[in-house]
Amino acid sequence: MSFDTSRTAEEPAASNPRPATAAADDGRIRVRDLLGPRDRHAELARDVREGLSRPHKEIPPKYFYDARGSDLFERITCLPEYYLTRAETEILERCAADIVADVSPHVLVEYGSGSSRKTRLLLDAMRRRRLLAGYAPVDVSEEALRAAAARLMAEYPELTVTLVIADFDAPVDLSFAGRPRLVAFLGSTIGNFVPETAGEFVKSIAAQLDDGDGFLVGFDLVKDVRELEAAYNDAAGITAQFNKNVLRVLNRELSADFDIESFRHLAFYDAERTRIEMHLASERDQVVVIGDLSMEVDFRAGESIRTELSHKFTREAAERVMACGGLRLHRWETDREERFALALAERG
Ligand code: SAH
Ligand code: AVI
Repeated sequence: MSFDTSRTAEEPAASNPRPATAAADDGRIRVRDLLGPRDRHAELARDVREGLSRPHKEIPPKYFYDARGSDLFERITCLPEYYLTRAETEILERCAADIVADVSPHVLVEYGSGSSRKTRLLLDAMRRRRLLAGYAPVDVSEEALRAAAARLMAEYPELTVTLVIADFDAPVDLSFAGRPRLVAFLGSTIGNFVPETAGEFVKSIAAQLDDGDGFLVGFDLVKDVRELEAAYNDAAGITAQFNKNVLRVLNRELSADFDIESFRHLAFYDAERTRIEMHLASERDQVVVIGDLSMEVDFRAGESIRTELSHKFTREAAERVMACGGLRLHRWETDREERFALALAERG
């Protein structure tokens, strides 16, 4: 079976001289960089100009995740209020073996993999069935991808890891990855898309699945508003730091002058749209300068930038999203308290 074979055309050596393979990993780590450094800056500039020019200001959530943002997210996953990661881990501990038995994958592709911590439960189940050959984590955060791969190398000597540095807001070409494949999208990151975009995303994944391949998606479930709002307003203030981190990213990457402490973290549940909205609200009237964009942005006291949506699902809503790609639920597993679900979907 073939897994990754080549260096990507998207990572020309002249413009991006980072070696595709680190010395200490016997060539078992490969890198497919689909985001050149110039494109990264241009896209951030475009998104910020566009998002902050709207009547209701917005910044896409993918910009939280520099090295500090990825670390803060990891701290969120350990918070007592943030039940999502624990609930999903509980499901994987119970069901990973069954999921792997259903699909018999040789390759695991994972979107928004972050630290790849929960992934180990799937890799272990693949290994127990002697299927494990390749893992392709797909993430915008190069730092998170590299740190995760370095840890996995030591634990899984049989594994080839292809780091895919990519933005999944646009379809990612998975033709390099072998089959049969299980594509995972854990953590309820699918909830960060608006429903229409989630449908488009599922469609683009479905187009790269063969019969017998599986798509495994974590969905956070609709529940009591107090439990939901507590998960995004933790007592230790880590989510607030994570939220404000996006302003540090803009200060550093776009020479902006956001006074970070003059913005307040806000997170609330919209029951009609079944989603948490996260915002940064200006404490006062102020003008922020974004140097690289030659742009001045006015804020009134109380005016906010929306930084993230986090949709919550019912089984029916999850089925509808999967149906956008012609996928059907093969499994629906929840934790004991029915706070979170893992759905395994297949074609047809
Ligand atoms: N799957 C992990 C991490 C979830 S955090 C878990 O369940 O704990 C969300 C991850 O998605 C981060 O690692 C972030 O860098 C990545 N991410 C967010 N938006 C992205 C995008 N548009 N394209 C690629 N990766 C993205
Ligand atoms: C990655 N994503 C699913 C998380 C969520 O719950 O929406 C990010 C997060 N935002 C605040 N806390 C965690």
